[in-house]
Amino acid sequence: MMNIAIFCSGNGSNFQAIVDASKSGLFDANIALMVCDSKKADAIERAASEEIKTLVLDIKDFDSKVSYEAEIIKALEKHNIDLICLAGYMRLLLPSFINKYKNRILNIHPALLPSFKGMHAIKDALSYGVKQTGVTVHFVNEDMDTGPIILQEPIIIEDSDTEKRLTAKIHELEHRLYPRCIKLFLEGKVKIEGRTVRILP
Ligand code: GRF
Repeated sequence: MMNIAIFCSGNGSNFQAIVDASKSGLFDANIALMVCDSKKADAIERAASEEIKTLVLDIKDFDSKVSYEAEIIKALEKHNIDLICLAGYMRLLLPSFINKYKNRILNIHPALLPSFKGMHAIKDALSYGVKQTGVTVHFVNEDMDTGPIILQEPIIIEDSDTEKRLTAKIHELEHRLYPRCIKLFLEGKVKIEGRTVRILP
């Protein structure tokens, strides 16, 4: 069975959705570890209630990002992690890290990439006035929010949508899309061809 590590920085609602999907039998994998870069993240509490091991680190306790990530890698190796799912992890990974886990790191982004990259994607889409936005799950490469796209699903923006309402709709979609994507990956149905990802039947 494959071992998954989920990286969080905050609320952890996607972490929860992945755990719930796994518990419901949507896919067959072991969620072996939650890695968190903030001692204040609600995700820590969630992992504790699910009895999932956590590694909580503060980058300020390390002299470099290399040594901070070395600590993470040590834990990933200890738990034989096959797949890393970034779920609201607000930190870029070093190229050396990404290379080590090449094509085995996924991320979820609350917009239709390549539109609205970055930290404020929902707000940015609203203020730009686009009529549709959505959710993207993609492989992580060395640049932010640019890796090969695995799944994408749109959401219509209604005139009545406030940031809060749209955020709720996006999260609801994220919680369905991320587990689906993990299932496809675990079943070996996700094939990368250059920058295009093909989903096998
Ligand atoms: C999500 O909107 C995700 O797309 C983005 O960060 C947010 C994390 O939310 N990368 P949560 O911590 O999973 O609730």
